[in-house]
Amino acid sequence: MEILDLRHFSSVDLRPLLEDETRVWATMLSWDYTGSAEMILRYVDAKILPGYAAIERGRIFGYSFFVYEGSKGVVGDLFVANGDRLPNAREVEIKLLTHVIETLQQSPGIHRIEAQLLAHEAGSVARPFLDQGFQRHPRLFMVLNLRSTVSQAPAAHPDVEIRRWSDADYQPAAAVITAAYRGHVDAQINDQYHTLAGSLRFLNNIVRFPGCGVFDPESSYAAVDRKARNLIGLILCSRVRGDVGHVTQICVLPEYRGRGIGEALMAMTSQNLIKRGFTMLSLTVTEANAGAVALYHRLGFETKRVFDAFVWAG
Ligand SMILES: CC(C)(COP(=O)(O)OP(=O)(O)OC[C@H]1O[C@@H](n2cnc3c(N)ncnc32)[C@H](O)[C@@H]1OP(=O)(O)O)[C@@H](O)C(=O)NCCC(=O)NCCS
Repeated sequence: MEILDLRHFSSVDLRPLLEDETRVWATMLSWDYTGSAEMILRYVDAKILPGYAAIERGRIFGYSFFVYEGSKGVVGDLFVANGDRLPNAREVEIKLLTHVIETLQQSPGIHRIEAQLLAHEAGSVARPFLDQGFQRHPRLFMVLNLRSTVSQAPAAHPDVEIRRWSDADYQPAAAVITAAYRGHVDAQINDQYHTLAGSLRFLNNIVRFPGCGVFDPESSYAAVDRKARNLIGLILCSRVRGDVGHVTQICVLPEYRGRGIGEALMAMTSQNLIKRGFTMLSLTVTEANAGAVALYHRLGFETKRVFDAFVWAG
């Protein structure tokens, strides 16, 4: 087995592996990975995707890639074919990650590395991260079965109006996100939440790029204070499969919490999806975010998987 630079290869070499990965994401996470796979293949052909491929008898059977975002490196993905059956799959995953981590840590100007490995069980590939001084944050992948969810009228606070998301909400939404995550564990995992410019970049990624499903404006909502007319909370939902929604963001300003606004936002999204024939709604939440986890449990979400987020801060 050899580990080689991903930029030596083309989409023809990588496509069979990504087809395997697409099947795994479909069964494990009810997630259609086709859009992400096509984007990865385009970047591979353009020779601009840094990463490593695991090769045996001339065939790629595993890969991991990363991206540079200013002074931050983000581990994009890790996948080894037949990971559940191949006896040395874990070893290959760890080798690929070790190469990625070393490359990023040695890249001039890189002061921070983030990774979220949604399709890997918590702890399963933690060793190379922990050895290099990363912090580990267990996160939950939760799902709500919309077929058995009773559609209830949302009971938001009377001073708050919930209306459909619009493009004009972009800028105020970035301000709400920055304020909602001040001092929050998720701001340790994703440093985009630290600044207004970072929150705008986060929104831009969610709304304009297909990395985390396709943004679904119809099931995304804004909460507005009726008197002050300002945005105080939001929920953003993407379509990750024809009939599956995924909450990519939900937050409420601290001074408005505990009044049922979060629950009402979630109810609006679920009701909209049920009406349109969706069968499932998923989300990810940091285990340490106990209040949010309790809210999701109360709404009927179940934990499907536990995965890890890793952060290295230089
Ligand atoms: C998670 C979050 C969106 C919840 O929003 P919220 O508006 O406070 O949510 P709700 O008011 O509907 O529910 C929160 C609690 O208030 C309680 N509550 C609801 N209506 C209430 C009312 N009228 N009066 C008093 N308490 C009420 C609920 O029982 C709930 O209790 P629980 O924590 O035991 O489940 C909010 O805390 C937040 O923005 N957090 C920071 C960002 C974040 O963590 N987002 C989630 C990332 S996955």
